[in-house]
Amino acid sequence: MHVLDHPLIADELTRLRDPQCLPQEFRQRVRRIASLMVPAVTADLPTTTVPCPTPLETTTGLRITRDILLAPVLRAGLGFLDGFLDLIPQASVAHIGLARNEETLLPEPYYLKHPPNLENFTIILLDPMLATGGSAIEAVRRLRAAGARHLRFACLVAAPEGVGAFESAYPDVPVFTGALDRCLNQLGYILPGLGDAGDRLFGTAL
Ligand code: PRP
Ligand code: URA
Repeated sequence: MHVLDHPLIADELTRLRDPQCLPQEFRQRVRRIASLMVPAVTADLPTTTVPCPTPLETTTGLRITRDILLAPVLRAGLGFLDGFLDLIPQASVAHIGLARNEETLLPEPYYLKHPPNLENFTIILLDPMLATGGSAIEAVRRLRAAGARHLRFACLVAAPEGVGAFESAYPDVPVFTGALDRCLNQLGYILPGLGDAGDRLFGTAL
């Protein structure tokens, strides 16, 4: 579990939490935070040394050895995707459709599309919100069932309940978050949180 304690992330997140932050600004801020998280989330990617010609001589360079797959959980993960793609434009993208049932709080799957040979990719699962943990756990379950082996999870705001559930289910999948908040309320929303991330990204709040 890595809480990315950085003034730029904290400043953006503080502005994002504000209910006055409307969808256009909200999307820009989520995208910027995602980009700010990329160096930490990818710091241990496996590399190999390669010959590196320059105009003057040949030195030794590094290349990333495994292809990267970004896997946003729909819908809110889409808001997170662009900031990762800005810095990792060569990544492939898998889409995972999950909707949390508002009464049971359980994730209901509705879509999954990914490239073949998932075992060959470093997969970064993306979802801004880790609340009960049900969605992230289901996303990893589906990716693993399809062959995924090298997984990590990046979120923007996490609740301790979700972190505990996720780490119990998948102790081998590293979690990176921009903030660790206090708790969940009775409706399963993160406190203090930022509300419904999907609705705020796409302007679908009632
Ligand atoms: C939200 C959020 C996560 C999930 C987190 O999605 O984006 O996917 O809830 O909650 P959990 O940890 O308790 O599972 P939601 O299902 O509301 O769908 P949306 O992104 O389409 O709004
Ligand atoms: N999903 C959200 O978008 N926000 C929360 O606080 C919890 C789940």
